[in-house]
Amino acid sequence: MAKEYDLVPRPVPPVETKFRRIATEFPVPESIPILQKLQAYEPVAMRGQPPVVWHRAEGFQVYDAWGNRWIDWSSGVLIANAGHGRPEIARAIQSQASQLLTNYCFPSEIRGRLVERLAGLLPEPLKKIFLLTTGSETVECAIKLCRSYGAAVGGRNKHVIVSYDKSFHGRTLGSQQAGGIPALKEWIVNLDRGFVQIPFPDGYRTTDSSFAGFESGLRERNIEPRNVAGVILETYQGGSAAFAPVEYMRTLRQWCSGHQALLVCDEVQAGFGRTGKLWGFEHYGIVPDLALFGKGMSSSLPISAVAGRADVMDLQPPGSMTSTHTGNPVCCAAALASLELILTEDLAGNSARLGALLHSLLSALGSRIPQIGHVDGKGLVAGIACVIPGTREPDAGLAFDLVARAAEKGVLMFSPVGYGGGTVKISPPLVISEEALRESVAVFEESFAEVLRQRARAA
Ligand SMILES: Cc1ncc(COP(=O)(O)O)c(C=O)c1O
Repeated sequence: MAKEYDLVPRPVPPVETKFRRIATEFPVPESIPILQKLQAYEPVAMRGQPPVVWHRAEGFQVYDAWGNRWIDWSSGVLIANAGHGRPEIARAIQSQASQLLTNYCFPSEIRGRLVERLAGLLPEPLKKIFLLTTGSETVECAIKLCRSYGAAVGGRNKHVIVSYDKSFHGRTLGSQQAGGIPALKEWIVNLDRGFVQIPFPDGYRTTDSSFAGFESGLRERNIEPRNVAGVILETYQGGSAAFAPVEYMRTLRQWCSGHQALLVCDEVQAGFGRTGKLWGFEHYGIVPDLALFGKGMSSSLPISAVAGRADVMDLQPPGSMTSTHTGNPVCCAAALASLELILTEDLAGNSARLGALLHSLLSALGSRIPQIGHVDGKGLVAGIACVIPGTREPDAGLAFDLVARAAEKGVLMFSPVGYGGGTVKISPPLVISEEALRESVAVFEESFAEVLRQRARAA
């Protein structure tokens, strides 16, 4: 059973630095009625984040209404790539909102501008763009396109969707079946046998990271390569921030082309500069047939996109790929404004530069703390695997305690729930400064030391 946050305020040591301020008990007593209201009216499934009631967020900082402020290591779970509360984005939203709030799939000028801008930035052949609202929907759309493509080039047996163990692609029926965390899909009961998962070659949880594992994975699951319609993977796995080896991905690219299977990169987390490149798949020197975007696309409002090869994107006839909020004009305005900030401020470059610092600090931390089993990630995303020392056994309780302690000390982070546990994720807005990054890593180290001391005392 996952741990839950205690809603009883406790005194915590005050914090006052340039970037952080904790001046109340934690959780803040005045926030308790709000937290209780949420608990009363929302499902239990909505719990899981530290009990900090966000009032305002700016750049890489989050503020509550009672004088506390945090360095944000979550980006609101990888949304605010261009920074929280950017006035440029707020102005674009306000201006568009005063002109046109919604228009379903009827044409609009701003939707045209956004799809043209995205297509211009993406490499060949990703030149057609379909806008949606959530990341899960882009995965559903990719499944539909893979199966349509498979049927078109190889008949109805060519319908298998290959994905990876420990992957996460969303919580809707199809996206959850593509996901590789069995506990999250128990509710489905009658799983579609046309979805199979094979080990993700991260070199840590799966020690054999060679491409042979892909082929043997298919053989073991009795999948004929000619029946594979598509292979979908997160550009890095969200639960850990692990990347696949470059060689593996290049061979996978060739394998997919050779077997007329679509290669789909789920960039819902990895896109828009997060990993130190504008698109995460650039790290592999490959281009997928479909790329899926969401989260950091607008740094604010809900908007997502499927980008793909024209011949694949055009498989469905007019009117058969729609969604009520497709390319909502206000969301398009937000996405355009966010993208311009990412480009003009070279936030992918900032992510690469500060990411190098972050990863060197974390690897030094890893060599000092035996409970850090592994550190994954690139650019401004990192996953720290908390383990039972001397093993690779995840320690989900430790990850929870670290997140809780860091929140009390003014650093807001999260541990991906349900991914298998034991990982704490670091993913600040890409505008974070070096000074704030160094300070927050120091806070994280202090949190580690305090939690471990407390455990030792309790043992
Ligand atoms: C890689 C990846 N794909 C898809 C999704 C689903 O996106 P959404 O929550 O917007 O439906 C997520 C969400 O965490 C994700 O990390």
